[in-house]
Amino acid sequence: MELGLKERIEHELDGVRRRSLELLDPVPPDELVRQHSPLMSPLVWDLAHVGNYEEQWLLGSVASTRLAPHLDGVYDAFLHARRDRPALALLGPAEARRYVGDVRGRVLDVLDRVDLDDTTALLDRGFVYGIVVQHEQQHDETMTAAIQLWGADDYPLSQPWPVPVSAKPLPAEVVVPGGPFVMGTDMEPWAYDNERPAHTVDLLPFWIDTTPVTNKAFAAFVSDGGYDDARLWVQAGWAWRQEAELRHPQFWAPDGAGWWVRDRFGRVETLPPDEPVQHVCWYEAAAYARWAGRRLPSEAEWEKAASWGSDGVKRRFPWGNAAPAPVRANLAPASRFGPASAGSFPAGASPWGCQQMVGDVWEWTASDFLPYPGFRAFPYREYSEVFFGSEYKVLRGGSWATHPSAVRTTFRNWDFPIRRHIFAGFRCARDA
Ligand SMILES: [Fe+2]
Repeated sequence: MELGLKERIEHELDGVRRRSLELLDPVPPDELVRQHSPLMSPLVWDLAHVGNYEEQWLLGSVASTRLAPHLDGVYDAFLHARRDRPALALLGPAEARRYVGDVRGRVLDVLDRVDLDDTTALLDRGFVYGIVVQHEQQHDETMTAAIQLWGADDYPLSQPWPVPVSAKPLPAEVVVPGGPFVMGTDMEPWAYDNERPAHTVDLLPFWIDTTPVTNKAFAAFVSDGGYDDARLWVQAGWAWRQEAELRHPQFWAPDGAGWWVRDRFGRVETLPPDEPVQHVCWYEAAAYARWAGRRLPSEAEWEKAASWGSDGVKRRFPWGNAAPAPVRANLAPASRFGPASAGSFPAGASPWGCQQMVGDVWEWTASDFLPYPGFRAFPYREYSEVFFGSEYKVLRGGSWATHPSAVRTTFRNWDFPIRRHIFAGFRCARDA
């Protein structure tokens, strides 16, 4: 049954809140208020922050009404760096749960009477509700990363669902022909400003990996001395490699000739050879690519490989416009709490045969985070515009911790090239 727009919004709001609370439920109160890494907020900050963001947009902007405007300062991500957030006068775990529930009750009342046929850009096809849903989904991924950094080994994991194993070996790479394609979108109702406007980009032909780079392949780079060969690293990357003493991906530990890994929260397990490598920074990804005689794809190449076919039709997901399902992509909340083996999703392949472009691991691209031609900041400068420049690299495709409503082939994520705590890996490309 097709849901109406209001029913769909309610369904999405309800779904993301259930996910947030389920994620935090197993965490004891003292761990909710503790900061597990200077890179992250205390979990209880994230929870009240999503409520405050929802209050500002869905009560304030939509209905000119507020519940607790005095909290705006405490939960403004721009006023306080993450490392300073534990010192703020934060709501406690029970108060935060009550606050987000109170906000939500009022938001649903407003939704009941708001006119979504309103033609303002903020309400058009429920846009403002879309950014609030995606914002909370993004914080759920951030909270998952915080729980990973904390490394709670008694955190309950859902049973990994089985994934089909490819019967025949996949080609390592596929060729994407040259020529123009449409990058970005004007059509996606909940797309962010940085995904707009749609514009034509002409590319030369290129080869791109069928799957993300695996642990086994990355381990070969490590054992071949990749971390000790300055020639493989860009200058800033080599300086960082030395300063931070990088020797292997985060959460790996040597075990004789092989590796242990501790990347499903606190569990220690033998490194699964066929899963995409994760917790590598952009510098590590770029060094690997050079070692392999390859390079990272530009974000335009990534998007063409993921969203475009020889039929000239733009796809929301690599497989088409159908909603994500476990047979196509490894995404939250039904995820395996980790990536699935490379080649597990033939039903999720792009027209060129690339798998796992959506889900499993975010993929670093070669590109800086820059505005598209004709970019217009909307609805606020602080979502994208203040981050544009060469400081950040673009990541694409979402991870196993990303929810389907917060990812699509046009979605752009960005982070510093030194960051490793995000669920990021990469695939390689080369000129054809
Ligand atoms: Fe936020």
